[in-house]
Amino acid sequence: MINAVRGTKDILPSEIPLWYFVEKTLHNVSNLFGFKEIRTPIFERTEVFLRSIGSETDIVNKEMYTFLDRGGDSITLRPEMTASVVRAIIQNNLLAENSILRLWYYGPLFRYERPQKGRLRQFHQYGAELIGSPEPEADVEIILLAKEIVERLGILNYKLLLNSIGNRTSRQRYKQELISYFEKYANSLSNDSQERLRKNPLRILDSKDERDLEIIKNCPKIYDYFDKESLEHYNKTKELLALNHIEFQETPHLVRGLDYYTHTVFEFQSPILGAQDSFGGGGRYNELFTEFGFKKEVAATGFALGIERILLILESQQKTLPNGSPLVYIAFNKPEFISKVFETAYFLRKHDIPTLFDVQKKSLKAQMKEANKYGVKFVIIFGDDEINNNTITIKDMKKSEQTTYPFEKGIEIILNSKSANEDN
Ligand code: HAM
Repeated sequence: MINAVRGTKDILPSEIPLWYFVEKTLHNVSNLFGFKEIRTPIFERTEVFLRSIGSETDIVNKEMYTFLDRGGDSITLRPEMTASVVRAIIQNNLLAENSILRLWYYGPLFRYERPQKGRLRQFHQYGAELIGSPEPEADVEIILLAKEIVERLGILNYKLLLNSIGNRTSRQRYKQELISYFEKYANSLSNDSQERLRKNPLRILDSKDERDLEIIKNCPKIYDYFDKESLEHYNKTKELLALNHIEFQETPHLVRGLDYYTHTVFEFQSPILGAQDSFGGGGRYNELFTEFGFKKEVAATGFALGIERILLILESQQKTLPNGSPLVYIAFNKPEFISKVFETAYFLRKHDIPTLFDVQKKSLKAQMKEANKYGVKFVIIFGDDEINNNTITIKDMKKSEQTTYPFEKGIEIILNSKSANEDN
């Protein structure tokens, strides 16, 4: 028996209606906000992620699927999409004609994490990026887009956490303060945080370890190290969120796991998810374009939602959707009637009637059973009489009634029932 790789999942036909519902909502809301879709390759040169996500992050240090291809180039399966989108914008010169870009994307990502509830090694994200504006209005527009999706999906009891990590100057000053503070407690910190203290002190702030939490409680607050620009950006963002009646929880310890952020950061959390409680997150990243060697700074902001985590929430809320059944099953009692079957199926499908028939040479009784299993509305029966008299017998499965009509008349009834269905 060969099983799927740990941390990967088959999405089975019974789960598909919920995926479609989520995908349709994402498409609709993106469109409402004037965002256009972009699709980038699933793998990139490793450098794309090294430059953007940060060399001291968990993603780069421990989680990337990186390999040498047959030409000897280092390739990585994308662990996130913001970096790929920025790479694509620069490469395709998309900013030449537009000073602002509103882009969305959807697809699978790969992170070698320890699998658990809501944490996979292949998972899906929807994300949106608003590129070209340094203004808080852009951050708020991005949060409004995320929130509209979350609400249209019907997610209940979620929380929006908000923070700012300021600009680079403010953050550098704060980092120094943090190092001095945590060094005093270095021996009491968890092993992971001791390592973070050396490599990435800000990340200590979102540790979930009990020992760390006690020390973090009294650590310096980032807001006290903000310069004028950082403070103004953050205050204006909060003001505009309030203007839009968006409730948020100010969370000074929210720092996020990717290094490219500046100013605004945010996360959506749900208690249903347990330890992996964040089903979406994002923020501003004003320095990423220059990290990629772009000639000028391009201010940008965006977010991504984790689709599997959203599905866990919807399932826990008992959200179910019917799996569409074919409308017609054609049953026949002699192999030589197959040409009539093909011809009828062809005609119905051309008229957008979902139709299926037996391809295993089953008995008529077994065919009726199969039709029942598929939940079709009508079974068309071709027996000797129907073929000899150019008639058609239609069984209405719900009413359990069957009637024989002249062929054309029967087909018309089926075509009309489709439009009646659509009117409902
Ligand atoms: P992220 O916080 O790394 O941000 O991922 C966003 C969301 O993806 C998470 O909130 C979570 O729902 C989902 N996710 C992450 N890892 C896993 C996993 N192993 N299994 C299942 N779901 C997962 C980013 O990726 C940024 N690119 C977001 C962004 C866009 N920032 C600015 N623009």
